[in-house]
Amino acid sequence: MQKLFEPLSFTRGPAMKNRFMLAPLTNMQSHEDGTLSDDEFHWLTMRAKGGFGLTMTCAAHVQAIGQGFPGQLGVFSDDHLPGLTRLAKTIKAEGSLAIVQLHHAGMRSPSNLIGADPVCPSNNEEYGARALSTAEVEQLIEDFIAAAERSEKAGFDGVEIHGAHGYILAQFLSPKINQRDDQFGGCLENRMRPIREIIKGIRQRCGDDFNVSLRLSPERFDMDLGDVIQVAKGVFAAGDIDFLDMSLWDVRKEPEDEAYKGRSLISYFTELDRGTVKLGVAGKIMRQADVEYCLDAGADFVLIGRGAILHHDFPEQLAKDANFVPISLPVKADHLKQEGLGEKFITYMSGWDGFVQA
Ligand SMILES: Cc1cc2nc3c(=O)[nH]c(=O)nc-3n(C[C@H](O)[C@H](O)[C@H](O)COP(=O)(O)O)c2cc1C
Repeated sequence: MQKLFEPLSFTRGPAMKNRFMLAPLTNMQSHEDGTLSDDEFHWLTMRAKGGFGLTMTCAAHVQAIGQGFPGQLGVFSDDHLPGLTRLAKTIKAEGSLAIVQLHHAGMRSPSNLIGADPVCPSNNEEYGARALSTAEVEQLIEDFIAAAERSEKAGFDGVEIHGAHGYILAQFLSPKINQRDDQFGGCLENRMRPIREIIKGIRQRCGDDFNVSLRLSPERFDMDLGDVIQVAKGVFAAGDIDFLDMSLWDVRKEPEDEAYKGRSLISYFTELDRGTVKLGVAGKIMRQADVEYCLDAGADFVLIGRGAILHHDFPEQLAKDANFVPISLPVKADHLKQEGLGEKFITYMSGWDGFVQA
């Protein structure tokens, strides 16, 4: 119980005041050009006020062609700077760390949204995606780094590199999707090269106290669990990120892969020697017992997604009452409105099975 509300320090930058991080949550509320809207500002700053030790933005695209959702926050142009600056300032004023999640959807960008065929490590018929040239991969890496510099300029404490959920960096990691024969394809070292070069570039070009992290997901989207464990090992050994965020979708689950069954998925990551890097997990953490389960399993902190959509002050609720139970699903749209979600976000949540009352 005590540990949940103890600060957590990182190798670089300020400490987090407790073990609760707001998970990155796509909310469709930005303006069409990727600039921040008042609705998105309100939704996020309310979470910072509600006691989250770290408030992360939704996935924010680093290239226009990498947009994955309508109303997505952008971080690919200096036009985004005023909104980002306002957001970082207010989150930090609430005593929460402010982090931008850097994203590129790759082949998962809808062509009607980006007005072109989506891009991918290799041609992909299923998604109608075209392969990036080697020079374009180098530009992609550069644009992730430039987006990190822009986030720092806006006053954010750091960035999280989105390497999860089948988006472009996960597409590079996948031995199935990535069929390249240059230095970005083939062996795992080559497939993880974009991630490694992005981290290296951010470290070189951003300040010494800039918090850099990575999100990975070990399953689905043609990922190989063994590969993802190796990537985690690699970033732990390199020690140049501050935390690894494992998106497990259910922190208590067993792996899908037969070869790894018989123990929890979380244990494959908590057992690794993480050196100075901190480890967080996300997936169906709704009660104090779930948070304790994760910390007891060896995680340093938790990320809260749906619990934070339901309650802007989820950490404060748990601090007041260890038996706090979130409102049961489905919820009324009015409840979400009171919790700071704008109309577009509520409409998006209506598409999540059983979340919003019809
Ligand atoms: C509405 C919604 C939007 C999401 N958007 C993102 C996102 O932008 N980036 C990301 O890495 N994960 C995203 N996720 C995954 C969450 O960050 C989180 O890992 C997942 O929801 C599991 O946590 P939970 O069970 O507490 O919701 C999203 C999840 C939901 C429900």
